[in-house]
Amino acid sequence: MAITPSALLAALSADHAVSGAELARRLQVTRAAVWKQIEQLRELGAPVEAAAGRGYRLAWPLEPLDAARIRDGLDAATRKRLAELSVHWRIDSTSTELLRRASTASGIEVCLAETQSAGRGRRGREWQSPLGGNLYFSLLRRFDAGMAQLSGLSLVVGTAVVAALADCGVAEVGLKWPNDVLADGRKLAGILVELGGEFLGPCHAVIGIGINLRLPAAACARIDQPAIDLASLCRGKVPSRNVLAARLIVRLVDALDRFAAQGFAAFAEAYARCDLLRGRDLRVFAASAVHEGVGAGVDERGALIVRHGKSTTHYDSAEVSVRAA
Ligand code: BTN
Repeated sequence: MAITPSALLAALSADHAVSGAELARRLQVTRAAVWKQIEQLRELGAPVEAAAGRGYRLAWPLEPLDAARIRDGLDAATRKRLAELSVHWRIDSTSTELLRRASTASGIEVCLAETQSAGRGRRGREWQSPLGGNLYFSLLRRFDAGMAQLSGLSLVVGTAVVAALADCGVAEVGLKWPNDVLADGRKLAGILVELGGEFLGPCHAVIGIGINLRLPAAACARIDQPAIDLASLCRGKVPSRNVLAARLIVRLVDALDRFAAQGFAAFAEAYARCDLLRGRDLRVFAASAVHEGVGAGVDERGALIVRHGKSTTHYDSAEVSVRAA
């Protein structure tokens, strides 16, 4: 009988070691098959440790993503708004999956995965997606108004992520324009908004969110900027992934409905409360020059305002990247 990686992972524990022979007996496969699958789990980034001659154990307790538990965490109104909630063991990218589905989707769709083989970040970067510890989450929603009306959307998503984290007891979190979620000056979560459809007519947004809950050292070393996970931020008391996923859905569905009706103006105050760049000395990297100034909030479209002496400039996120000086 073939052994599935999820069944093997479920048979392991963080409390005690389980021997290869015991795993083979429980899963009704050979010890060689167990060994081979353990190696594959490790390659995917699962925290499987060898326990000095006693078999294998997990570096931390794993809570598998579970669509039923996520649905249980939704209020009735949000549950009704959700056309599809899919949880994958392994996928190329949850956002790529929803982009594939965008032309036929009838309502709001959410896709999660335990690991991604081609996780994507902003500006063509790779998003590290080790198995079993983090959240890889995407949501698809249609908008009647057209892409022209969606400026500020990624900032709105940032405020929803901060609110969902606060719902789970994670408070010391802010936003670095346009939408990096930072804690202790390091990146805790990333947001990638991809739009499709008509500029003036109906369009759709695929909102991809990656949240570091447990970032193994090997994955952390491959990230080209300082990163942090909830395990270190919350001193080991990591929120449930299923509860956090549910809170993300609730906060996002609500925020996107309000954004569709009222635009970015309805979020200006919420964004200002999370804005980590206001009052900071900044370097703004444009195509051909670097501008220095002081962060002065965002305008009604969500563009970054930077004060240079007595004048101000408004920067769109597509044109520049920004760093605290
Ligand atoms: C960033 O560069 O900060 C954005 C990162 C977005 C990562 C998430 S993980 C879930 C979804 N699927 C992807 O391939 N990317 C987004």
